[in-house]
Amino acid sequence: MNSETQSNDPEAKGTIYRIIELARWAPSGDNTQPWRFEIIDEVSFNIHTSDTRDWCVYDLDGNASKIAVGALLETIEIAANNEKMRVDFCYQGTVIKATLRSDHGIEINNLVSSIKTRCTQRRPFEKTALTPTQKEALEQSVGDSYRILWFEGKALKWSIAKLLFKNAEVRLTIREAYEVHKQIIEWDARFSETKIPDQAVGLDIVSLKLMRWAMTSWSRVQWLNKYLSGTLMPRVQLDLMPARNCAAHFIIVAKDGLKSEQAYYRGGAAMQRFWLTSADLGLQFQPEMTPIIFSNYINKGVKFTDNSNAILLAKELSDQLTELTGTDAIENRVFMGRVGVGKSPWARSIRLSVANLLKR
Ligand SMILES: Cc1cc2nc3c(=O)[nH]c(=O)nc-3n(C[C@H](O)[C@H](O)[C@H](O)COP(=O)(O)O)c2cc1C
Repeated sequence: MNSETQSNDPEAKGTIYRIIELARWAPSGDNTQPWRFEIIDEVSFNIHTSDTRDWCVYDLDGNASKIAVGALLETIEIAANNEKMRVDFCYQGTVIKATLRSDHGIEINNLVSSIKTRCTQRRPFEKTALTPTQKEALEQSVGDSYRILWFEGKALKWSIAKLLFKNAEVRLTIREAYEVHKQIIEWDARFSETKIPDQAVGLDIVSLKLMRWAMTSWSRVQWLNKYLSGTLMPRVQLDLMPARNCAAHFIIVAKDGLKSEQAYYRGGAAMQRFWLTSADLGLQFQPEMTPIIFSNYINKGVKFTDNSNAILLAKELSDQLTELTGTDAIENRVFMGRVGVGKSPWARSIRLSVANLLKR
């Protein structure tokens, strides 16, 4: 056995294996899992990070991937604490070295039990409002460096629903997003290791069939959009209805801004604590990141599509989002989504096995 095979043998590395086994359940945009692991010895491993900016319009400057990596680091920490270990991270460009050290006095974080059950539910929830206790737990989970903007009550939820409904037109009429959707949906699937299974997308069977037919080519999508108002049903089912049917929408805002890679990692860690806490409270959760992403393109003056109508619409929506969130939050918006009481999803993304996540 050569040394590389030996160092990547999961069975021989009990603690690190168990930590990665849990941490791999961290969420990532479109389930892209922009990380691979390299076990160095019994107490240290490297996390090789990457991003999807070269093919994914939703990963402006790799920031969505950085948020996901932040969620991964937080999950590693919670999983390590469960092993009575502390973890130090050393940042070396795209490689992050994790080193474990024993601490028998460490308190186990009860969020550990929600790491695997935390997931994305894209279908409507109940309209029941969050209780003050639930809101307080969620607000506390992110820590002092973040604040939560809540959008609750009929009128505000309706404002967000309209915003998301229009925003979906941008998403569904630009070729750049079509190229992404084509790659990240696994058809005829309830579970998917590397993508989003079609059954977790949130469409009914008829719309799903139509979408599958259309998505074989961009010209079919354009034809459907032009002659059959092809964006209408998905926008109602994926955006309008879910946005109205939830307890609240939220935006996590970084008080000190998002000025560095580390700031995105920290934001991702806060987001993961928030999401795990919502799972721990028995709530359902869906990220709603695309309005923020398109707005960031507009604010940075970066062209994200050849479709000039979509750019105009994105600009209008960016202004609306700013009106809702306040100008001070523009550059500090870490994560947007919705929460509420509801059924767990029947279908979900799963993950690559630890063996497949080990760098070869
Ligand atoms: C940075 C980031 C952005 C995301 N954006 C969206 C989004 O806009 N809409 C959505 O439905 N899911 C979004 N997701 C959820 C991912 O698609 C999901 O976490 C991934 O497919 C894994 O599935 P799971 O959360 O059910 O484990 C996002 C997740 C992350 C980490």
